[in-house]
Amino acid sequence: MPDAAHLNQTAPADPTSSSTPNTAEETPPYGGQATGAAPGGAKAHAAPPRRVRTLDLIKAKAEGRRWAMLTSYDQYTAALFEKAGVEALLVGDSAANNVYGHATTLPVTVDELIPLARAVASATSRALIVADLPFGSYEISDEQAAATAVRFMKEAGVHAVKLEGGARMASRIKAITSAGIPVMAHIGFTPQAEHNLGGYKVQGRGEAGAALLDDARAVAEAGAFSVVMEMVPSGLAGQVTSELSIPTVGIGAGAETDAQVLVWQDMAGLTTGRPPRFVKRYADLHSVLTEAVGTYVDEVKSGVFPEPERGFD
Ligand code: KIV
Repeated sequence: MPDAAHLNQTAPADPTSSSTPNTAEETPPYGGQATGAAPGGAKAHAAPPRRVRTLDLIKAKAEGRRWAMLTSYDQYTAALFEKAGVEALLVGDSAANNVYGHATTLPVTVDELIPLARAVASATSRALIVADLPFGSYEISDEQAAATAVRFMKEAGVHAVKLEGGARMASRIKAITSAGIPVMAHIGFTPQAEHNLGGYKVQGRGEAGAALLDDARAVAEAGAFSVVMEMVPSGLAGQVTSELSIPTVGIGAGAETDAQVLVWQDMAGLTTGRPPRFVKRYADLHSVLTEAVGTYVDEVKSGVFPEPERGFD
């Protein structure tokens, strides 16, 4: 179904079931404009589909329904991806590479990510918007982590934050969720720690699998609503997925996770060169744009563009 709203358009869950959360909502309190009213209270018109909630994603897992996540860093892709059915959008710190032109995710700052996150949140009405906490904005203390997450909620209007790290980040996850902010964890290969990990390497192979399982359990126990697993052996990712009740989101983690995430410029073929093994290219935007811009340049130089009808009397 090509609409991000389908996750919350299913019949309300049985509220007595502990494994399937109740996602039915009351009419929003305190007046003002509802951000996509929840079912209930509708008079002549049906309530518009509402924003995907973290509970919808947890419920989807309980019901065996998979969902898709993509990065987005601007209003046009955000609106388009939501329309195409992407349930969750990640304003990733991969903006460092894909927006700001850095070689790694490390340099991007909170002040650089917040305007991008605000654009994505403002351009959408259905998708759940998750913002990455960039390197250096949450590692120092629980207080620092909670304060940074609060900034993303207040200044960008996102609905959740993501941070990298497993068991070592448990107290940060608790601090942020205690402030009322949902946290998506990120384990396995964590790009912000690439120097510590010795480069781009699959994590959790062999004996290291036990530590990865511990990380997954620790972030779920700490209150994360979901966990990204990056470059993890498929069998191990499947094991984590079947053990946890929160959804797992794979990127290079095989087919057994509850959801998948990709960097949009990679999957749409805007980036060039050999893509990572886990990337599937669904389009060749690099060629499409190169050809369009090349034609524009030719037509400007030859005088074909602008045609008479594009001018004003
Ligand atoms: O920043 C990002 O794009 C990410 C995804 C690769 C999961 O963290």
